[in-house]
Amino acid sequence: MKFKHIPVKLEDTIIIAANSVKSFCNKHNINADDCLIIDATVGLGGHSLKMLEAISDVKIVGIDRDPTAIKIASERCENYKNRICFFESTFDNLEGARDFAREYFNNKKLQIALIVFDFGVSSMQLDDGDRGFSYNKDARLDMRMDSSSELSAYEVVNNYSQTELVEIFRKYSDEKYANYIAKQIITDRLAAPINTTLQLADTIKKALPIKLQYTNYISSQKRIFQAIRIEVNNELGCIEDALDSLFSVANSGTNVIFMSYQSLEDKLVKSFIKTNSELSADLAHLPIVPDALLPKLIDLTKKSQKLASKSEESENSRSHSVRYRVCEFS
Ligand SMILES: C[S@@+](CC[C@H](N)C(=O)[O-])C[C@H]1O[C@@H](n2cnc3c(N)ncnc32)[C@H](O)[C@@H]1O
Repeated sequence: MKFKHIPVKLEDTIIIAANSVKSFCNKHNINADDCLIIDATVGLGGHSLKMLEAISDVKIVGIDRDPTAIKIASERCENYKNRICFFESTFDNLEGARDFAREYFNNKKLQIALIVFDFGVSSMQLDDGDRGFSYNKDARLDMRMDSSSELSAYEVVNNYSQTELVEIFRKYSDEKYANYIAKQIITDRLAAPINTTLQLADTIKKALPIKLQYTNYISSQKRIFQAIRIEVNNELGCIEDALDSLFSVANSGTNVIFMSYQSLEDKLVKSFIKTNSELSADLAHLPIVPDALLPKLIDLTKKSQKLASKSEESENSRSHSVRYRVCEFS
């Protein structure tokens, strides 16, 4: 199956990646040969492939929890197989990915110059009807990025209580009709289990006020599918764990790029950067702040870069909701 995939914010990412590697090498007096980029969400390898083309000698380890994504990315990056390796895992295991790369490239000196997070699902996962991510393609309710994990959309829809459903619909997608939709799910599944994406889409539509059933039911279907996907893959929990684990792998000068597509993801990233890049108020009065208490990060996010440009939005609808943030470990 062929997938059309345009990486989001590609140009900015390549420029930042090239600059990060250059300044990291200068700072640590090493060659690009000893620099590692962790592409924490390698997906179809779009960003990785361009970074390999643009930056000589640097090594990349691509993480993904989806083995199908890893297979496609490794085929696309075949020409660079001496500079890229793949690590099937959730992206909170950054230390594991770094150690795997050191072993794979037989280079214990490899240091991380850049980490890239491009959150969410890939176009392949959405377009592949069999994966059950999409409200308009019929499939068994699944939505697992990694098919070995236990929880699937089927269990959430058919086993969660009404209260639990309302909670995830509110928390993860701010759905106004969360109550009605959860109630309709309970009613429908009492008659027979809700097995497929189109059955669920129909249940959601039926729960809405009549006027919306004829006009705008798709936004609710989109939001409910998103909420279930976030729950199934513990997406926000993984981001929190990954943010924590950055401290155990980053060196002075390591840059991190984050691409978020929904407000809860961006909220976690924004708060992580803010908390760690500002001097705590109770230290501000000190004439000299001890090194150990100085902020651990520098916020490099540029206002002009935070959103996709109009021209990118018109070429790539996925870029429409991106929030792009960058920071550097000090
Ligand atoms: C938006 S796509 C990345 C696209 C990629 N940057 C490219 O240009 O091809 C996000 C990828 O991250 C993976 N992913 C999402 N959450 C993950 C997690 N917690 N751990 C590892 N991979 C994850 C998904 O399986 C998906 O392949």
